[in-house]
Amino acid sequence: MRFVRKNENTKRYVDNIFSVVRAAKADPEAINATAGCLYGEDGKMFTYRCVFESEAKITPVQRAAYAASPAGNQEYIDLIADFVLDKRVKNHFKAMATPGGTGAIASAVNTCLDEGDTIIYPQISWGNYRVIADERNLNVLNYDVYDLNDLFKTIDEVDEKVFLVINSPCENPLGHAYPLDEWKQIMDKLNSLDKEVILLCDIAYIDYATGDPKAYFELFNEISDNVLVLLAASCSKAFSYYGQRLGALIAINNDEEFLDHYMNLCSRTARATWSNLNNAAMLNIADILKNHREEYDEELEAAKGMLKERTELFIRQAGDCGLELYQSADGFFVTLKMKDNDERDAYHKRLLDHHIYTIKVNHGIRVGLCSVPLETLDGLAEKMKELY
Ligand SMILES: Cc1ncc(COP(=O)(O)O)c(C=O)c1O
Repeated sequence: MRFVRKNENTKRYVDNIFSVVRAAKADPEAINATAGCLYGEDGKMFTYRCVFESEAKITPVQRAAYAASPAGNQEYIDLIADFVLDKRVKNHFKAMATPGGTGAIASAVNTCLDEGDTIIYPQISWGNYRVIADERNLNVLNYDVYDLNDLFKTIDEVDEKVFLVINSPCENPLGHAYPLDEWKQIMDKLNSLDKEVILLCDIAYIDYATGDPKAYFELFNEISDNVLVLLAASCSKAFSYYGQRLGALIAINNDEEFLDHYMNLCSRTARATWSNLNNAAMLNIADILKNHREEYDEELEAAKGMLKERTELFIRQAGDCGLELYQSADGFFVTLKMKDNDERDAYHKRLLDHHIYTIKVNHGIRVGLCSVPLETLDGLAEKMKELY
């Protein structure tokens, strides 16, 4: 007896992250660098004051109510699209609300790919891409984010539809970001292809990047007709609002009529899966973007400063003691280089035995600087080097 669908993916689903997170929480001596959430210097999850002051004004009736449609509340959709796009995109676009960035990625995959189709994402990347691909029996190709030629070679391996995931800036787990000149080369490559291209930009952490991280959005004004750009945005990260499950999918294309058709498809898929979204969260984020933007921007700057201080300290101390890291620009994480995954497993175990909790990634150990206060972080690189 099987009960389940014929095309079930029978590979065992194991969540490596949550088991280490649980172990870290149970250890009073833990240095907990497992989290994918921002923590404050007080060791507690970082929250935006403006987010929760505004949330407190939402009434029970508003909380209890369904949202206006499976695609979300229009005011939230308009405001989040403006917030994400930052006036960079003059091309046609259409947006919808989703349950987190994950919901946006799932929508993109569900609406664009059939079983057996290929998805391309980085070799060292967020583990959930693999889960999403496995769940839908997709063929996976990987590329090295540090080598554009490798990316282009991988793209050329796909015969029909190219579905490419780029998680830049603040790549999870590497902290990698493509500079603008590399983005130009990537877009030139995609625009030159004689096949359908879906570029899914996972911009979950973009608000924590320094410099001008949205400059590359302007390249989406000059895409060829066979390119569809999809942006997956996350309120979990942008507003430290992880549990409220809110995000957005923004589709950009030269053909406005196609975008209408595409959003209709996304709405139907949404209705058939999660059906409706968190009404209170949408009302709240809309209120912040409309009425409390300055407060939010100030708090975000402070959060970025806190993260940057941690990143600079850890990278400097790692350099001083010779702990080898993948090159990183910004973000919640840095990753130690590991030659092979067996060595990585043994090292990860040694770290656990010494109360240092990190996350295993392909050929690496992810250190969540986002969750470790500066004082605890000071000296951590040396401790990790000693156990190497
Ligand atoms: C790379 C990346 N993309 C997307 C997400 C989506 O997060 P959420 O669904 O909570 O918005 C995460 C969360 O950890 C992530 O690390």
